Amino acid sequence: MTMATKAACVLAVWVLVASGLSDLGSARAPLGSKPQREFDYFALSLQWPGTICASTRHCCATNGCCRSEPLQTFTIHGLWPDYDDGTWPSCCRRTQFEMDKILPLKEVLDKYWPSLYCSKSGTCFSGKGLFWAHEWEKHGTCSAPVVQDELQYFTLALDLYFKYNVTEMLSSGWIQVSNGKEYALSDVIDTIKHAFGGSPQIVCKRGSIEELRLCFDKELKPRDCLTTSLANGSVSKSKHCPRYITLPTYDPLEIMTQFDEFEVPAALYTA
Ligand SMILES: *[C@@H]1O[C@H](CO)[C@@H](O)[C@H](O)[C@H]1NC(C)=O
Ligand SMILES: *[C@@H]1O[C@H](CO)[C@@H](O)[C@H](O)[C@H]1NC(C)=O
Repeated sequence: MTMATKAACVLAVWVLVASGLSDLGSARAPLGSKPQREFDYFALSLQWPGTICASTRHCCATNGCCRSEPLQTFTIHGLWPDYDDGTWPSCCRRTQFEMDKILPLKEVLDKYWPSLYCSKSGTCFSGKGLFWAHEWEKHGTCSAPVVQDELQYFTLALDLYFKYNVTEMLSSGWIQVSNGKEYALSDVIDTIKHAFGGSPQIVCKRGSIEELRLCFDKELKPRDCLTTSLANGSVSKSKHCPRYITLPTYDPLEIMTQFDEFEVPAALYTA
């Protein structure tokens, strides 16, 4: 895959929308019409399935947590344009997600960018849809002038994901994912800083890493993410990480045993 080309100056007309605090929350439909200025940097947000899937209570074919083989790698949440003040633009252009435009990427997206929930995601312009529709409409449409269209958006996110392999970066600092051990948060941050060239933002849930974000400038060079104190608005207290954190694994069979007997067993779904 080629790196999405950075288009020259394109003036975009931005349509403002109140941005939700949680990316997983339902996206709001465009309400106001304040123009949104060009973003300052990108955050590539990665999810640690071991943390998220531990609270799975419902399975369906589209939920990555429900595959018979547990996901043991960071998967993609999204590529998010952000502002240096800790806020971000969202739902910038009235263009709807079209699966047809990214069909060649479908297999790779299924593998590395799965939804980890069953519920449909809120979208800006079409109400509810796929996780990918949510990411494109809410964030992708605000990625100009670096990204111009849907295919470029997903291609760029995948390129960055493959180029900067967090699992490999962590193992360069003797941090092995999935072994359930506790690691000092500062070691995790320093290891990424050293291997990647910018400090990551880490979001936790009950002492485990839920998300790890890598940040890039508009030339796609690694840069620091905002420190959590600056980004207070986007990371609530409960998402703060303790001094020692884990990268847990999960057992799809265990998810299955938590089901009502009328629900579909997780293990029926294969990757
Ligand atoms: C990242 O590196 C690990 C360890 O080398 C490998 O198993 C995994 O497939 C890589 N992930 C991606 C997305 O390239
Ligand atoms: C962020 O939170 C920390 C600790 O809760 C606080 O000290 C700091 O002033 C906050 N920063 C902003 C920009 O709100």
